[in-house]
Amino acid sequence: MTTIIDGKQVAASVIDTVKSAAAALEKDAGVKPGLAVLIVGDDPASHAYVSSKSRMAKECGFTSIQHTLPEETTQEELARLVETLNADETIHGILVQLPLPKHLKSEPIIQSIRPEKDVDGLHVVNAGKLATGDLDGGLVSCTPAGAMVFVRRTHGDDLSGLNAVVIGRSNLFGKPMSALLLAANATVTTAHSRTKDLAGVCRNADILVAAVGRPEMVKGDWVKPGATVIDVGINRIAAPEKGEGKSRLVGDVAFDDAAKVAGVITPVPGGVGPMTIAMLMANTVIAAYRKAG
Ligand code: GUN
Repeated sequence: MTTIIDGKQVAASVIDTVKSAAAALEKDAGVKPGLAVLIVGDDPASHAYVSSKSRMAKECGFTSIQHTLPEETTQEELARLVETLNADETIHGILVQLPLPKHLKSEPIIQSIRPEKDVDGLHVVNAGKLATGDLDGGLVSCTPAGAMVFVRRTHGDDLSGLNAVVIGRSNLFGKPMSALLLAANATVTTAHSRTKDLAGVCRNADILVAAVGRPEMVKGDWVKPGATVIDVGINRIAAPEKGEGKSRLVGDVAFDDAAKVAGVITPVPGGVGPMTIAMLMANTVIAAYRKAG
């Protein structure tokens, strides 16, 4: 029997813990966690994500600030806003939604966020702490942290002897995901577009994590029988069967075929997606606790 992970349910339990922690911090130290989310431009999908983040922050009892900036915002204007939020004592987490419009350079902006407020875990200080195995001192990127919750629930904290394959090498997901699996003693392969015999590499995986952004690229016969499959892709594809102009969301894994082979699998939507927001709230409350000492 294949287990299909209910990401919404797991995320809800993380959110419950965050709410209690936020309430306790306010009661005991008079500190309310504060999250500032910045979005530049008009991309509808990014706006939907950012609204969910701001809404969830409110629901968790945080101070929730959203800065919606026009497409023509300059590098200097965005940098100034980050500086203001860096200096704001009521803000413990700053998230700049990516991607930024083409005329803006994201890297200098991300690196200008104070590492202790970098709830995306993208600052080199946080990425470096993760790479050196310091899992408790920094902040870890939210989507890999969420995927790791699923891995731990399935396999426990120690992945000794297990082969993990991560497809994708982005700073936001693939690299931190590989680092987390390695820190948990898995034998990790980071595969990507230049990997030879990707299907063969995947067939060796006890834990297979796909983050490539290609709809249903990972086929059922790429999956080792009984493997844990974590699908990080969110792709919108045409769904003529639902009516003209209709679309649906699919992951990077061909779910129906992979589910016949896998031991544990995450669906899209309703798998990793809800965990990203939950872990963002968790990072914000952690940042607030650290600030409160
Ligand atoms: N765009 C898509 N996912 C993310 C994320 O986790 N953080 C940020 N900042 N932008 C994103």
